[in-house]
Amino acid sequence: MSGLERRRFDALVIGAGGAGLRAALSLARADAHVAVVSKVFPTRSHTVAAQGGINAALANVTADNWHWHMYDTVKGSDFLGDQDAIEYMCRAAAHLVVELEHAGIPFSRLPDGRIYQRPFGGQSQNFGGAQAARTCAAADRTGHALLHTLYQQNLRARTHFFDEYFAIDLLRDEQGYILGALVLEIETGELLVIEAKSTLIATGGAGQLFRTNTNAHINTGDGLAMVLRAGIPLEDMEFFQFHPTGIAGKGMLISEGVRGEGGYLVNGAGERFMERYAPKAHDLASRDVVSRAIYQEVAEGRGCGAQRDHVLLKLEHLGEEVIAKRLPGIREMVQTFLHVDPLHHPIPVYPTAHYTMGGIPTNRHGQVVVPLGAGEETIPGLYAIGECACVSVHGANRLGGNSLLDIVVFGRAAGNHIIEFLKEQRTHRPLPPESLERALERLQRWDRRGEGESVDGLRRALQETMERHCGVFRSEAVLLEGLSKVREIRDRLAHAILKDHSRIFNTARIEALELENLVELGIATLVSALGRTESRGAHSRIDYPERDDRHWLKHSLYYLEGERLEFKPVRLKPISVDTIPPAERVY
Ligand code: FUM
Repeated sequence: MSGLERRRFDALVIGAGGAGLRAALSLARADAHVAVVSKVFPTRSHTVAAQGGINAALANVTADNWHWHMYDTVKGSDFLGDQDAIEYMCRAAAHLVVELEHAGIPFSRLPDGRIYQRPFGGQSQNFGGAQAARTCAAADRTGHALLHTLYQQNLRARTHFFDEYFAIDLLRDEQGYILGALVLEIETGELLVIEAKSTLIATGGAGQLFRTNTNAHINTGDGLAMVLRAGIPLEDMEFFQFHPTGIAGKGMLISEGVRGEGGYLVNGAGERFMERYAPKAHDLASRDVVSRAIYQEVAEGRGCGAQRDHVLLKLEHLGEEVIAKRLPGIREMVQTFLHVDPLHHPIPVYPTAHYTMGGIPTNRHGQVVVPLGAGEETIPGLYAIGECACVSVHGANRLGGNSLLDIVVFGRAAGNHIIEFLKEQRTHRPLPPESLERALERLQRWDRRGEGESVDGLRRALQETMERHCGVFRSEAVLLEGLSKVREIRDRLAHAILKDHSRIFNTARIEALELENLVELGIATLVSALGRTESRGAHSRIDYPERDDRHWLKHSLYYLEGERLEFKPVRLKPISVDTIPPAERVY
């Protein structure tokens, strides 16, 4: 063990999506010695797949201001979002989008040269009035443009990248300080100990929990599971977003930007059914509302196709010019995966797992916070940002376009906070040997050979179970059955082997470690969903159909030890404006 290679950095960033790269950029520009570890080449991180855009109240297309953006975000969250963090995010948005433009993002343009903005779901003018157009877009490839821009800026700032290294576990001492991570170089299988004065987790979400999803294969919630193993709880794991328009049966994302540009949904009778579910916003209601509507249309026999198992998204009327200019990626994707041209044929769509709204509990500086008595304490030197974190700006339902905003706002905030933290941390704390041994044991378990069930089929079993038992609508009986199935999968995984007995490839070992992470997160999600006996945002209990503010205006905290739940209050007080009180939520 003492023979392991060691490197020391001021800051370790795990994850090279938009959040990690934005934080690393602040750190590198401040001359901190920063390492970014990523299990894929950075520009393959899942941010690259974000299509529709990034929200900021620039008022380039409709009247707008950050107060309206804040109102929409609080309402979108079904009043579970923390209002201090939401205010902070919405206020920072315009400045940060202009900063991104200056860094090189090729935003789409209005005829007068200003940044183009499209309408997205849940956006309004004047606190619930007419539709706003707040989403700044680079055609339908905004995440791609953002990720490449941030990566190039990091290269320029001399951020140190460890590309294709997998983080096995956090290293921590008995006092609870996080001291870095044990990582594995995927190509060679060499281990590396990265010691850091501060560690920032930016590993993205866990969309691979579900069979049909919009997520990259890599989205296995590694950071969330590492934090759970370190004894830290996860917040609001019951809230998983289902995007209304995934390609039916396959799950790939068809951007909300399609509806923003004027596309609309129809059922098997050709009816624009969203008019019934959202009398004002129609197809641009928030995602939880549209997903439930599609689910219900299909469940009640009004679906499309031979099996009546999806609805159609129509965009032919937009014409070739709009589609070529604003939605070129969508056209290409539909042609590739469905072999039809959306210029002439509607797209079959159905809700698909999209975004992890719960995660590692943090404050608005990105510091990880845990309960202490009646209050909270921060874990010194540990930060989390982006989809793996729960700050919580999305609450029970995220608005489209707020995730790219979240990653740049809290990426910058965490970077800035770490710079201050480092001023007080002149030396590295000693790394106790037990800490490394714990992390190594995790890897060594996957040297198992001999007879037994292979890992491969278990991932599929987990995904199918989660899809069937923890989808758009839930009930106690269905969730309980799901929980017992996932626990059984966990038991089988504990005895499973890697498929190739003669030679264990690192990729196979990593898939096993990823599946361990996913299984724990599946249990966290099911236990949290069972605990919340109300319907709020994306969590719809058919046995508890109403929102219950009296008992449930609070965040859940799931602990690995004992699979237990605790709760903490929602931060209803913003920084400088009045609280937006919970109210009936209609679109
Ligand atoms: O629909 C979309 O383009 C996705 C955007 C988002 O999740 O923010």
